[in-house]
Amino acid sequence: AAIDELGYRPNALARSMRRGTTHTVGVIIPDIANPFFGDLARSLEDHMFEAGYSAIICNSDGDLDKEARYLEVLQSKQVDGLLLVAASQPSEHLLEVVQGGTPTIVVDRELGDLPASQVMVANREGGRLAGQHLLDLGHRAIGIIAGPGGLGTSARRLEGFTAALTEVGVALPDDRVMRGDFRAVSGRAAVDAWLRTGDLPTAIFAENDLMAIGALSGAHAAGVDVPGDLSVVGFDGIAFGADVTPQLTTVAQSTEDMASVAIELLFERLRDGDAEPREVELPVSLAVRGSSGPPAR
Ligand code: RIB
Repeated sequence: AAIDELGYRPNALARSMRRGTTHTVGVIIPDIANPFFGDLARSLEDHMFEAGYSAIICNSDGDLDKEARYLEVLQSKQVDGLLLVAASQPSEHLLEVVQGGTPTIVVDRELGDLPASQVMVANREGGRLAGQHLLDLGHRAIGIIAGPGGLGTSARRLEGFTAALTEVGVALPDDRVMRGDFRAVSGRAAVDAWLRTGDLPTAIFAENDLMAIGALSGAHAAGVDVPGDLSVVGFDGIAFGADVTPQLTTVAQSTEDMASVAIELLFERLRDGDAEPREVELPVSLAVRGSSGPPAR
């Protein structure tokens, strides 16, 4: 009755100091506007909420300085753990956090020399699957719209894709490699650039679905039929890929499975601060839909 009458609310800060835990975790993702990261953050938050934890979700915009700022904020709030999709390659601020003892799980983008558990997908195999699919359809003039340089995901997918083509003697000249930023506009810009040079490939692998959807938009604007004149394959398996016309063929990765493993790794570390970091690689699968078909030209 007194609590109701006074409208008393426990002081979370005082309670956390007494308990030595805030039951809060930090989640940092590079682009909250990308459905891949939205879905991933949502799954991470769902799992943590079920375990009685609150999640503070931060958007680094792929910017290392912003990521560093959020790491400071989350540490000042004494989060019990950190689930991080890196803005790019590690920097000293991340090393400090991990060495400072904050249980940190690296999600999606590998950060080689960080002493922290990591979960990602088989990116190289995914790139190979995309290349093999287009080769099996009969394509030989194949281009790639790669993600941002300096990211493990972009590099691994390009490696796997290139390996598939090289195995059967299909060249990947420099003018068939475009660099995007994982946003739709960069995918459209790549198709526009190939159209301007008059050297549009008969098939394109985009290293994520948003750039693939941008490529579809560029093809449509130029009256290029998909898949008749141009085949397009993406990577991620976001829901929008099934809502565009034609539906997007893509290399699917499961944000739910990635989140579930990340949480398992985090609780391993929360239960035992000396737990040996480990790396989990999840499988990918090719979802063949209407945006890929045999070459007409
Ligand atoms: O769509 C965003 C991309 O960046 C995804 O492929 C994900 O793996 C991340 O690396």
